[in-house]
Amino acid sequence: MRKIGVLSGGGDCPGTNAVIASIVKHGTRLGYEIVGFERGLEGLLGDMSYRRLGVDDVKGISWLGGTVLKTTSKGRFSSKVGKHKTIAIDPQILQEAKDNLDSLGVEGLIVIGGDGTLASAQQLMQYGVNIVGVPKTIDNDLGFTDVTFGFSSAVDVAVDALDKIHTTATSHERTFIVECMGRSAGWITLSAGLAGGANAILLPEFNFSIDDLIDFMRHRLQSNNRSTVIAIAEGAKVNGSYQYEHTESGEVQYTGAAEQLMREINRRAGNEFDVRHAVLGHTQRGTKPNSADRILSKRYGIAAIEVYDQAKFGSMVCAVNGEMKTVPIEKATERIKQVTRETNEYYTARQLGIFLGS
Ligand code: F6P
Repeated sequence: MRKIGVLSGGGDCPGTNAVIASIVKHGTRLGYEIVGFERGLEGLLGDMSYRRLGVDDVKGISWLGGTVLKTTSKGRFSSKVGKHKTIAIDPQILQEAKDNLDSLGVEGLIVIGGDGTLASAQQLMQYGVNIVGVPKTIDNDLGFTDVTFGFSSAVDVAVDALDKIHTTATSHERTFIVECMGRSAGWITLSAGLAGGANAILLPEFNFSIDDLIDFMRHRLQSNNRSTVIAIAEGAKVNGSYQYEHTESGEVQYTGAAEQLMREINRRAGNEFDVRHAVLGHTQRGTKPNSADRILSKRYGIAAIEVYDQAKFGSMVCAVNGEMKTVPIEKATERIKQVTRETNEYYTARQLGIFLGS
């Protein structure tokens, strides 16, 4: 019996469990034994952290958020720095992972991950491990795929929050700034802002002037719109700079865009507006997958095991015009996918008079 591994790496994402369950169910039918490795690629090192996954082990998990295999976005396999730079992983780490897989008789891996995890898996492939990738990120910023699973569920969380914020903003005639996830790409903020009726949408991809935003708010006041809801991505530049800090372990954490913007508005026009902010953060990641994401995840899982079975190693499965296709992992992880002025939702927001900056 051919043995293959499955693992999830990077930030958790609604729908991951449905991908895992589909791989196990269909993989078992195709005659594979599936081994689940825990905590992403880290689970391949040392004494390894793994368990055999049979059909009974994945019963009833597809609707659950998170990942039953656990995940990590740091560790010895980290290979992505900043938006576009990839660094080489220590060869000893890669060799150790390969030797460990050999000792279990595992010939290859289906890796469910974002650009960082997939770029790392690609390096492992150079050591003779067969790899098939599944794109996983709520940020929807992986190239060559129309949409990643988990994105729609994350947008739903943000829209639900915006609906509630509108209610209180209207009652108090306040300005609210709502911070959504998205370090380098504003897909969640744009979609949630559009669906959730935000009056201004601020993204990492476009600069904006705070004075222009205040003028826009003043204009709203003059036309008797006494509350304003602003959706901002965590990676948007406020006053020309990104808002992030380095953690003790040297990680970059984006935090504070909404708060910083609130302070700037208060500093410049505090007597005119009553401003509050809310950070949605990991609530967008921790939700259960919505129906669209459950279906998409199941399709990704089935496509991944079939692509593996066809020996198309080094490929990432992707959704193109609604069809499941493949793209070389190397190509898919070269650059992230960002919002542009040509993006349909951006155009629609612009035509609706939503403030988007320059
Ligand atoms: O999954 C990507 C992401 O959602 C980013 O938008 C966000 O900056 C990041 O995860 C935060 O992840 P963590 O706090 O787990 O490092």
